[in-house]
Amino acid sequence: MKSITPLFVTQLYLSNLSRGGELDISELEVSCRSIAEDDLAGQQWCENNGYSGYTSYASLSDLTWRFPIFNELKDILDSHVANFVEKLDFDLDDRDIVLEDMWINILDEGGSHGSHIHPHSVISGTTYVSIPNEAGEIRFEDPRLQFMMSAPPRKKDARNDLKTFHSHHPVAGEVLLWESWLRHEVRQNGSKGERISISFNYKWSD
Ligand SMILES: [Fe+2]
Repeated sequence: MKSITPLFVTQLYLSNLSRGGELDISELEVSCRSIAEDDLAGQQWCENNGYSGYTSYASLSDLTWRFPIFNELKDILDSHVANFVEKLDFDLDDRDIVLEDMWINILDEGGSHGSHIHPHSVISGTTYVSIPNEAGEIRFEDPRLQFMMSAPPRKKDARNDLKTFHSHHPVAGEVLLWESWLRHEVRQNGSKGERISISFNYKWSD
């Protein structure tokens, strides 16, 4: 054998918010909780759609405009996304990758979020605000899974980059970024505490 070359590699970006600027995470947590309490339309949407907890996904599309701390968060995320985008070697044709939407997720005990992708976006991600012990991990799926018709499963102790699924137990203050086509899910929150995160999409500017 001469060599084995990794091809078509899936990149997962992991950092701490603090690397992109200063932000008080406990203040962010207070804001998330108070927005959730006030957002009756969002609460109703969660009830109608069986969401265990609260998400602003369907009710508030202007967090950065309404709340200064979310605008500060946007600036920090912008710098993380710029960092990631540079590593991805996109040819952007003089256009930018810009924030499209940002939303709060507060998952109650037993809550989860099924497997999904984020269509029409370029980069998606989550930053973690409050993560109690036993809170559900985020799990990413090999995007080639549907082609693996006769492929044997991987060993439990297979190398990280060869595994079919990759789980990450987040901690408060972390930021994770990935390309929006990457399928992922949030596993069941096994904690009595609320699992609070903020998710976002970045798109290719016009
Ligand atoms: Fe997601």
